[in-house]
Amino acid sequence: MTRVIVAYATRFGSTHEVASAIAHELISVGLDAQPVEVSSGVNPDEYDAFVIGSPLYGGKWLSGAGVFAAIMSESMNGKPVALFSLGTMGVKSPPAAQAEHAAFVDNLREVAPKLNVIGDAVFNGYFERANLPWYLRIIDRFASTPEGDHRDWPAIQNWAKSLAPTLSES
Ligand SMILES: Cc1cc2nc3c(=O)[nH]c(=O)nc-3n(C[C@H](O)[C@H](O)[C@H](O)COP(=O)(O)O)c2cc1C
Repeated sequence: MTRVIVAYATRFGSTHEVASAIAHELISVGLDAQPVEVSSGVNPDEYDAFVIGSPLYGGKWLSGAGVFAAIMSESMNGKPVALFSLGTMGVKSPPAAQAEHAAFVDNLREVAPKLNVIGDAVFNGYFERANLPWYLRIIDRFASTPEGDHRDWPAIQNWAKSLAPTLSES
């Protein structure tokens, strides 16, 4: 059975829930998948395929997720990797969110050229202004992030299902 790690970083938990939904979907189509936080000490030899995701903050992944992808890429030996971002930019402008995500993925592939990226996607995230610590509220005043849960669960589930055949090829 193909063993897939769905590695995620999160600040407020919404990416954790998306990673869990992706793992759940992969399990439903016969893969052995588990969501794991990027900082929890992962042995890449224990997995056949990788899904790695992070929320976007200021146009970039949380650093733990980027570092995880770059370090893991050295020992993945060409195993398939799918990447996803979560953000709220797409609520107002899907093309802008796609461009931001694509720019980040391009940068990541530059610093980690051994990543065998077989798919990537950006999804709308979840944002509650009241949860922010004061210093992020100051930054957010200038960004006017749309509040609410914008996660499109069917889109997330469909993406996960669409990856399954390629993740299983390893
Ligand atoms: C200070 C701040 C900066 C953000 N920057 C971006 C951004 O650049 N692009 C974007 O699409 N979403 C941005 N977001 C929205 C988050 O990515 C979104 O709320 C995400 O679901 C948070 O994930 P988490 O709960 O896993 O931390 C930002 C949110 C905050 C509070």
